[in-house]
Amino acid sequence: MGRIIAIANQKGGVGKTTTAINLAASLAAADMRTLLVDLDPQGNASSGLGIRKGTYPRSTYHVLVHGTPLESIFQSTEMEALFVAPASRELVGATMELSQEEDRHQRLERALAPVLDRFDFILLDCPPSLDILTVNALIAAHSLLIPIQCEYFALEGVSELMETVQQIRRVRNPHLEIEGVLLTMFDERTNLSNQVMQDLKQFFAEKVLSTIIPRNIRLGEAPSHGRPILLYDIKSKGAEAYIRLAKEIIHGTPKGLGARSERPVGDS
Ligand SMILES: Nc1ncnc2c1ncn2[C@@H]1O[C@H](COP(=O)(O)OP(=O)(O)OP(=O)(O)O)[C@@H](O)[C@H]1O
Ligand SMILES: [Mg+2]
Repeated sequence: MGRIIAIANQKGGVGKTTTAINLAASLAAADMRTLLVDLDPQGNASSGLGIRKGTYPRSTYHVLVHGTPLESIFQSTEMEALFVAPASRELVGATMELSQEEDRHQRLERALAPVLDRFDFILLDCPPSLDILTVNALIAAHSLLIPIQCEYFALEGVSELMETVQQIRRVRNPHLEIEGVLLTMFDERTNLSNQVMQDLKQFFAEKVLSTIIPRNIRLGEAPSHGRPILLYDIKSKGAEAYIRLAKEIIHGTPKGLGARSERPVGDS
């Protein structure tokens, strides 16, 4: 059965989509059958893997709102083991359209059930909010991967995200784990990045993944070529980091389980 990992942080621009694209590609390169589900109306995960807007008739919007079977929207990619369920602008309206539906929070969970056995990993790229789309992802997921950018206010909104996780555990998905906290856009030359790393390690303790994603210009360029970093510049530091992350996710154990309080150290 595939492991479903939601990639979420309601703060914008922290590296969620970059991580979704490149972790998915690195998992596929390690022969893991991988599905990337794009839940962001911006559709950057889809276009970043070369799936051009307007070339597909149905998207995750149709899956969530109209009950279209998920597998009917799969798009293949340049990598044999990697498939994408693309997003479209229409997703913007999904929250409103679903607001009266009693099962609005479980739509994705239900859509994923029939395809679970076809994949080793299913990654969910979430939009920068804690709306119905992200809640669907957290209910469907086995674990949550939280990218955090190494900058001022890195922890902004994190308490709210952790509260949402607690709530979802109480109400719908008691087994939701924290896959890990991923430091992104790390610049080892700056004191700031190093300071933020220390703060995050204090805050999240052992939940911080040992792989750190450096700030790397090639990672920023790759999406405009519709390719993951592995196919754009395999020798780059960015590619190296995401390959290491894939290994850590394949072999590592989820962080922060057990009887200990789920609250990060220092969270109040
Ligand atoms: N490690 C990195 N090095 C350099 N640039 C990066 C890196 N990670 C992400 N970027 C760039 O930073 C910007 C934001 O990244 P990304 O789109 O992955 O964040 P996001 O959290 O998905 O954003 P949103 O909240 O809008 O969905 C993009 O232009 C991306 O190319
Ligand atoms: Mg994004």
